[in-house]
Amino acid sequence: MLRVDVVTIFPDVFEPYLSEGMLAIARRKKAIEVCVHDLRDYSTDKHKSVDDRPYGGGPGMVMMPDPVFRAVEDISAGTEPPPRTIMLTPQGRLFDQSLSRELAREQHLLLVCGRYEGFDERIRAGLKPEELSIGDYVLTGGELPALVVIDAVTRLLPGVLGHEDSAQFDSFTENRLDCPQYTRPAEFRGMRVPDVLLSGDHGAVAQWRLEQSIRRTRERRPDILAKQTCSANDKE
Ligand code: ADE
Repeated sequence: MLRVDVVTIFPDVFEPYLSEGMLAIARRKKAIEVCVHDLRDYSTDKHKSVDDRPYGGGPGMVMMPDPVFRAVEDISAGTEPPPRTIMLTPQGRLFDQSLSRELAREQHLLLVCGRYEGFDERIRAGLKPEELSIGDYVLTGGELPALVVIDAVTRLLPGVLGHEDSAQFDSFTENRLDCPQYTRPAEFRGMRVPDVLLSGDHGAVAQWRLEQSIRRTRERRPDILAKQTCSANDKE
């Protein structure tokens, strides 16, 4: 089972998302356990402060080091192996499918969500967490990014997807985008499902899907096609 601890000042935003769909099933099957901690519980002053004004002036507030240190140390205490501690910030390494696969092999993740203008630099220096960004845009906090990481990782855990194969054929797993998919009816508002998919010829279907996937990737994401290692057959 993968254990995920989350440190946040908005603990209530997690449960609704984690209680639906595949996340709920994964928790019920005990593939993942998520424990959400309120950072304010680790504040030591009477106002439960977790942020303060930046030294040197400037707009916004900065996350104070003490509550974050106390939270991370408390959650990590006595756990073996120690959690892989990850801070969600726009300055981190870009999260992608290969990192998602790597995290799905861990036993324990500790996700620290930032708010405000950022973390006091001593949090980086002292706790030496990994830093992850989910994309080159700035959100109001790390809560959505933490949910993105949990979601992407959970669906890769053994036994979570009904179809053990599904995750393997996702967009990006093979460094290609998915091929087009169709369901019934065979004709909808004059648009027909490609004949090959109705043919029952599994070899022809596989070939068509591969071609479509390569074409779509070339058109939309030539950057990821360049990275991919493909067989001689694919190249043709
Ligand atoms: N916090 C704010 N924006 C973020 C981003 N893009 N990724 C991760 N954490 C963030």
